[in-house]
Parts: sequence; structure tokens; C-alpha cells
Amino acid sequence: MSYNLLKGKKGIIFGALNEQSLAWKIAKRCVEEGAEITLSNTLMAQRLGTVNKLAEECNAPFYAADATSFEEIENVFKQSMEHFGGKIDFFLHSIGMSMNVRKSLPFDSLNYDFLNKTLDISAISFHKMLQAARQLDAINDWGSVVALSYIAAQRTFYRYNDMSEAKALLESIARSFGYMYGRDKKIRINTISQSPTATTAGSGVKGFDSLLDFTDRMSPLGNADANDCANYCVTLFSDLTKKVTMQNLYHDGGFSSMGMSLRAMEAIDKDI
Ligand SMILES: NC(=O)c1ccc[n+]([C@@H]2O[C@H](COP(=O)([O-])OP(=O)(O)OC[C@H]3O[C@@H](n4cnc5c(N)ncnc54)[C@H](O)[C@@H]3O)[C@@H](O)[C@H]2O)c1
Repeated sequence: MSYNLLKGKKGIIFGALNEQSLAWKIAKRCVEEGAEITLSNTLMAQRLGTVNKLAEECNAPFYAADATSFEEIENVFKQSMEHFGGKIDFFLHSIGMSMNVRKSLPFDSLNYDFLNKTLDISAISFHKMLQAARQLDAINDWGSVVALSYIAAQRTFYRYNDMSEAKALLESIARSFGYMYGRDKKIRINTISQSPTATTAGSGVKGFDSLLDFTDRMSPLGNADANDCANYCVTLFSDLTKKVTMQNLYHDGGFSSMGMSLRAMEAIDKDI
């Protein structure tokens, strides 16, 4: 069902890899709601994933960029503005990667080159996007920017590892840039702290299925899935949320406010 919430709006979606990607669902939902979009990811992701199919379905050009390269990100904004014949109204940062997680290096035995890469890809890239957009004056006044985060920024989640530090930095960048962009251009910047969701990045965390089961049991509304995330994202890109900025918005079925639930207790009791 479409409410035309994004009619006439133009945006960039960074980070769609395959049909499981949160960014994939968000891209599709934005287009359903009337937006025109462009897509970006690495060349490698384009080769290994199925983003070309999404580009076709959304009638959206794909611009390759490694999120660690300021120049490549800048080019995505330039190419998108050229494609649209003007500024954009929104963009999504949906990018995360940790070699420490991939190689199962525990938090007290991190590889520091990997840590730098985690922070660069998963958080500093957000600053690079915002800085490039601002320098190019690429976003219309009252535009909206969203990055996807996780509650491990605030609380310790076993095995989420150095991605926790990346998410804490990501959320801080949203606040710091949110002040400057809001003050000068009325552009809002928020992070959505999403439930665990079965995607390529999500499932890369060992024990992910147990986490998914635990958070679902703990959340009165159950886990928010990728389609729910896409719906929430659309509201943040729409004009209905013009005064929401510099927030980390939990989208987790209530998990973040829970201490213990009946369903979680029952699962623990069974094991004792
Ligand atoms: N899946 C979950 O459980 C979950 C929960 C909360 C937040 N998130 C966040 O949502 C976002 C999207 O992840 P997802 O779960 O959809 O998984 P995904 O694997 O589909 O998406 C991750 C994306 O990051 C891209 N990427 C990796 N390195 C890159 C680089 N150097 N330059 C540009 N792009 C790069 C990948 O190509 C991929 O498209 C991430 O920030 C993730 O941390 C995911």
C-alpha cells in the first residue's frame, strides 16, 4: 500500500547488496512511496550481490563507491545531482563491516588494522557522506538523512565486538553533524537502532540465530523485520517528521525498554 509519502522526493540509498539487505527493502519502499532514487555500493558488492536487479526494478542508476574514499563518495553525490538535475532530499547510510567479527577475533585480542577499517567503513564513512553533501550543497533544505545502528552502541552484546564502537561513533556523528546541518539548512540527521535482522551482515555474527530468538522473546511486539524497518525509514524521509533530529530511534519491538519477559524466562527455565 502506498501513501505517496515521498512523492517528488529524490534520494540516494547506500548499502543494498542483495534481497535480504535492509537497504534493499528501504529502496523498494521509497520508490513505492513515490521517490526517485540512485543506488551505491562497492564494485565488489555489485559483482557478488544482486544490486543490478534492484537498480532495474527501481529504475535507478548505480554508482560504485568504496565508502572509505571521500572522492568516490563525493562522486556519488555529483552523479546523483546530475541524474536528478538538482539536489536530493534524503540519503540512507546502510553500511557495516568488521574483519575482527569475520575472523572471530575476540574483543581483547583485536587486530588494530582491522579495527581502523571497521571504524572507517562503518562509521567515518557517514561523516564523509555528510561532509561531501554539505560541501556540494547537495541536499535541499528540510532534507533528511538516516543511518542504521544497533543497540550494542549503548549496551554490551557478546560477539558484536568492535562493531559496538563503530555504532557508538556513528550515532555521535549523527548528533554532531545534526546540529550543524540543522542550524544552517534545516536538514535532519537520525539513526535507527534496528532489531537483529537476518541479512548477510547480520548473520555474520556468530550465534546470530540465538540472538534473534532471545530478542524476539524479550520484545513485546517481537523483532522488527526488514519490511518494518523500511516503513519506519520512509516516515523519517517524509515531511511528517520534519522536527525529529539528532536522535537514535529504537526500532526494536520494545526490546530496549525491557529487563526480562515471560517468554525469555520460559526459555531460560527450560534449560536449567
Ligand atoms: N542485520 C542486522 O541485524 C542489523 C541490525 C541493526 C543494524 N544493522 C545495520 O544495517 C546496515 C546494513 O546491514 P544489513 O544488515 O542490511 O547487511 P548487508 O550485508 O546487506 O549490508 C551491509 C552493506 O555494507 C556494504 N559495505 C561493506 N563494506 C563497504 C565499503 N567499504 N564501502 C561501501 N559499502 C560497503 C556491503 O556491500 C553491504 O551492502 C549496517 O550498518 C548494519 O550494521 C543491521
